[in-house]
Amino acid sequence: MGNRTFTMIKPDAVKAGHIGAILEKINAAGFRIVAMKLTKLSQETAGAFYAVHRERPFYQELVDFMSSGPIVSAILEKENAVADFRTLIGATNPAEAAPNTIRALYATSVGENAVHGSDSDENATIESNFHFAACDVYGA
Ligand code: CMP
Repeated sequence: MGNRTFTMIKPDAVKAGHIGAILEKINAAGFRIVAMKLTKLSQETAGAFYAVHRERPFYQELVDFMSSGPIVSAILEKENAVADFRTLIGATNPAEAAPNTIRALYATSVGENAVHGSDSDENATIESNFHFAACDVYGA
């Protein structure tokens, strides 16, 4: 069972002023923030981060959206972090997200869905390393 996951508050939620509310939900659910920054992805870095989706029809839309404005990226720590964080954020499509999940509250569409959460311990490590150097991570 892994104890860290990686998240981004996406450009739609940053633009709408939801950083504080989303961090409140993350803290209230028992996650500890061990690394965090406000940053902006370029087309190149967004494209590389989502390279696994390169063949999907929505890839260019995803890259354009994720490089459209500032994001907050963070590494979160909690027992069973990956699964518990995916429960907290809700389904990819906000229309299917459980009530009171972050996406049910703040996402507007399947593409502009407010937050990212890693889907496995392996990807949590890969994604965290993509965004942060080891010296940026508290306790590392
Ligand atoms: P996330 O799960 O964080 O990472 C992959 C992203 O691709 C997903 O969030 C959505 O933002 C996006 N995505 C998935 N399916 C679609 C779709 N059908 N149309 C547009 N974007 C999508």
